[in-house]
Amino acid sequence: MAKKNQTLGEFIIENQEEFKYSSGELSRLINSIRLAAKVVNHEVNKAGLVDIIGAAGETNIQGEDQQKLDVYANEKFIQTLINRNIVCGIGSEENDDFIAINSLDENNQNKYVVLMDPLDGSSNIDVNVSVGTIFSIYRRITPVGTPVTIDDFLQEGNKQVAAGYVIYGTSTMLVYTTGHGVNGFTLNPAIGTFYLSHPNMQFPETGNIYSINEGNYAHFPVGVKNYIKYCQEEEGDRPYTSRYIGSLVSDFHRNLIKGGIYIYPQTSKAPNGKLRLLYECNPMAFLAEQANGLATDGFQRIMDIKPTALHQRVPIFTGSRKMVEKAKEFMKNS
Ligand code: AHG
Ligand code: MN
Ligand code: MN
Ligand code: MN
Repeated sequence: MAKKNQTLGEFIIENQEEFKYSSGELSRLINSIRLAAKVVNHEVNKAGLVDIIGAAGETNIQGEDQQKLDVYANEKFIQTLINRNIVCGIGSEENDDFIAINSLDENNQNKYVVLMDPLDGSSNIDVNVSVGTIFSIYRRITPVGTPVTIDDFLQEGNKQVAAGYVIYGTSTMLVYTTGHGVNGFTLNPAIGTFYLSHPNMQFPETGNIYSINEGNYAHFPVGVKNYIKYCQEEEGDRPYTSRYIGSLVSDFHRNLIKGGIYIYPQTSKAPNGKLRLLYECNPMAFLAEQANGLATDGFQRIMDIKPTALHQRVPIFTGSRKMVEKAKEFMKNS
């Protein structure tokens, strides 16, 4: 039972038996993500000090090269997972290919692979707007003890054993699911501990927020254009409010709490949309469904799409159940 104010560490131990393949390994993995998130959080919070401590690409006072924050976050998460000998493979938005950890240690007996977007919304860093980290965890399908292959990463989203995000916002939160609902933990920066602040998070069935980059309107399919018109019409609880941060994690998080829909559709310029199936859409879809929301590509369930490439992109419509269903109706006439 989730108890408010419980620490994330306590929560993980208490809920370990809920995990499908309970060997403690998945708990240790979530723990490692918690640790890396704290390190990245510390760095993200210093981002505004670039004029004082040096911008990305410059050399700092110790003679070290300053890194872009997305590269830094990528390295921190990868290092933490490798050093703690916790996974057998990692795929990242920032790496062209997956990392097979078996190649470093032939005796690697770990069962899980992680896919991640180490810093989501990174273009918002310079303007002090919230960014995030997204992660998705699968059980490998090739035999333990052998090097992982691309097949371990190209699994349907419905095979995820855990997924979540960290939001580096006015507060830092870790929100995740292991398939038993969604729980949100807020970091107390004074002592570096995450506390359960949002137990059993649920999308309101419907909401009044729609989030889409309307600057691309001219390139949207007709179904999306018509849905936007519907959102703006004066009728019943409409017009809805338009809110778009440009950070998937932040837009999703707000809609999860307040009720709303997030759309990144296909456009005439980007026929598969922009967001990545494995690093962004699947983990958000798992969270959405676990929080009583929905996630589709406009036609089919995101988590049932069979991935064909590591960096594959897909359109996404996700959020409050009734709103996603409505948008889907409009897409039928696209
Ligand atoms: P990332 O920073 O990981 O590359 O992801 C950026 C993504 C996502 O966070 C956001 O919702 C979307 O790009 C915004 O794209 P537009 O600027 O095209 O609206
Ligand atoms: Mn991203
Ligand atoms: Mn990113
Ligand atoms: Mn990027």
